[in-house]
Amino acid sequence: MDRYLVFGHPVRHSKSPFIHTLFARQTQQELEYGLAEPAVDEFAQALRTFFAQGGKGCNVTVPFKEQAFTLVDRLSPRAKRAGAVNTIKLTDDGVLLGDNTDGAGLVADLKSHGVTLADSRILLLGAGGAARGALAPLLAELPSELVISNRTHTKAQQLAAEFHALGPVTAQTYEQLAGPFDLVINSTSASLQGELPPLAPALIHTDIAIYDMMYSASDTAFISWAKQHGARQTMDGLGMLVEQAAEAFTVWRGIRPGTKQVLRELKRNLGVI
Ligand code: ATR
Repeated sequence: MDRYLVFGHPVRHSKSPFIHTLFARQTQQELEYGLAEPAVDEFAQALRTFFAQGGKGCNVTVPFKEQAFTLVDRLSPRAKRAGAVNTIKLTDDGVLLGDNTDGAGLVADLKSHGVTLADSRILLLGAGGAARGALAPLLAELPSELVISNRTHTKAQQLAAEFHALGPVTAQTYEQLAGPFDLVINSTSASLQGELPPLAPALIHTDIAIYDMMYSASDTAFISWAKQHGARQTMDGLGMLVEQAAEAFTVWRGIRPGTKQVLRELKRNLGVI
């Protein structure tokens, strides 16, 4: 049977095996999908061994995405732009192809929630790997403006300069920000520590859409905060997780699974509904 897995550390709580097993059942594909948690300095070896032993493809998550970028034979254009690889496929001619489906997953999830990106003013919080992966797919949707704000302003400036050729992207400090924005995307890891990016509450209004790339069984700190200040449409990263997985599954199997039912099952599994 064709073998796939996700590399990460820690990875025990990954939902990817659950999601891909449902995709496989739905599309009647024969495959198995597991977990691998190599020591941080043993990822390269573990990756080689997996493919030497017949593995067909893998996902890569924290903290290995940047390393995976350097280990594959060939990179897709979107992986190149993201500077990170979350999906690897062994092609029929034996080439390890590195791809990145995170940004496409974000855009697909925003669209499935009915968020309009064309001509919108988007505020992207954070300038780490997650923000980098989101930039090109967001700019491809032709927003009127995309502002990056980050605690360390120079990192936001660097990202804006790097992606400037792809669309109207600028960097502003949190203090400089002037609304109204249509959509705020939180790509920071602040929620992981229960912290908040230092965003002025005045930027939140009833018609704004709020997206936190993080997810948890209850509202993330950022989503709770946005709701308190009047945001009516809030979304967490669970949908993005399922959509990036669907995109990876499509890369591997050439068949696109449906995501709605799988997202519902995942929520049930997590105790969210
Ligand atoms: P990832 O790959 O998930 O994006 P990362 O590269 O470590 O992770 O980036 C984390 C991002 O969250 C950074 O933009 C970081 O800001 P700095 O560049 O200033 O470090 C941001 N971040 C983390 N904790 C934060 C907090 N408490 N408030 C605001 N921003 C925070």
